[in-house]
Amino acid sequence: MYQFDRKSYEERVQWFTQARFGMFIHWGLYAIPARGEWVRSTERIPKDAYMRYFEEFDPVDYDPKKWARLAKEAGMKYAVMTAKHHDGFCLFDSQLTDFKSTNTACGRDLIREYLDAFRAEGLKVGLYYSLLDWYHEDYPHYGDLAHPMRDDPAYSNENRNFDRYLDYLHGQVRELCTNYGKLDLMWFDFSYDNPDMPMKGETWRGSELVSMVRELQPGILIDNRLEVSGEGGYGSLWEGDPKPYHGDFACPEQIVPPTGILDKAGNDMVWEACVTMNNNWGYAANDHFFKPASMLIKKLVECVSKGGNLLLNVGPDARGNIPEESQAILRDIGHWMAKNHQSIYGCGKAGMEKPDFGRITRKGNTLYYHLFENTVGPLPLLGLRDEDVDAMRWVATGAEVPPAGTWIRSNYPDLAFADLGPDPVLPDPVDAVLEVRLKG
Ligand code: GLC
Repeated sequence: MYQFDRKSYEERVQWFTQARFGMFIHWGLYAIPARGEWVRSTERIPKDAYMRYFEEFDPVDYDPKKWARLAKEAGMKYAVMTAKHHDGFCLFDSQLTDFKSTNTACGRDLIREYLDAFRAEGLKVGLYYSLLDWYHEDYPHYGDLAHPMRDDPAYSNENRNFDRYLDYLHGQVRELCTNYGKLDLMWFDFSYDNPDMPMKGETWRGSELVSMVRELQPGILIDNRLEVSGEGGYGSLWEGDPKPYHGDFACPEQIVPPTGILDKAGNDMVWEACVTMNNNWGYAANDHFFKPASMLIKKLVECVSKGGNLLLNVGPDARGNIPEESQAILRDIGHWMAKNHQSIYGCGKAGMEKPDFGRITRKGNTLYYHLFENTVGPLPLLGLRDEDVDAMRWVATGAEVPPAGTWIRSNYPDLAFADLGPDPVLPDPVDAVLEVRLKG
């Protein structure tokens, strides 16, 4: 049985805290109704009515190599794709169900192709696996928090065998951890309280499940949603009493934690904010409210400056295409990352006050000042004196930036300033990054 070990833990999270930026992919039958991945639940769609999407699903344009190139060019270092979402549809060739992509018109193991394509581009690969399953007859229906038939007493739970469902869940996770090569991440989703039963921890037979996953996939990272959801606390690692099913990282959803995430004892936690580009995880045809690339670049910087990762979501459509808006945003992010990635990868909190003009990330003895706006006069480097600074450079060009020597700063003898030159317009309209190398 797996038990937490601090040394092994610190080793296995290393790549993750270096990577900082990943792609989340929510894809499945719900792309056809195109109203988000919860459509079956929110619209109370009965199973037989939902099956029309299973009969129809044929993503003729699916080319995960394209997706992988898009992720890599955006500067993403890992990806997490839905192997099974709450609707229970399996995007992989499970031997435990007929409700799977290999039984649709496309006849393809979509997960295997995704894993092959993203590994080929050098990205770490993860799978999202829903603990909820609205297709399986042994999963609670009536009275459940979210099941599509939760309001209909005709779907009572008398004859449902939850243990049989858990055997199915564990069996599928075993399939994924056995038949698809090395996995770097398992992203379970999500735990919650049902009126008569807390759906969390050992309710999922969590210790047994995690022990199996870690035995089959040594070094794999697992999120904390065997214990919590995107809210409701951060789990037992946060508590300082890690259960066998503890998450390796916290996964705040649709929010950047205002002050990062410290555990109960005040130590930095490993965390990853998962964020949609528009307002839906799954494809939503009418949701054109996409966050601009300029905003998402600053959110990535914000996550890193607070010691966390950003997992940015795409929701491909029913033909297997990532929406054009998402592709354009990823290309713009990639242009910025191509010049400034050293201020992101392997960086974290600066341990300094956030400046008015932007944010600071840090890697060892190097600070990266992210300038979202220019200052009037020389740039104040709060917390630093002239004698602390060895050299300054624009990250994007490598050009030297001199310390400010003008009389203007004479009232601030104990504060270092950078002279950004005469042009009030910064070299990058979104985030101009200044590298400040500290002495010693
Ligand atoms: C929530 C949603 C789920 C989505 C997940 C991503 O749990 O229920 O649809 O996959 O967030 O974090």
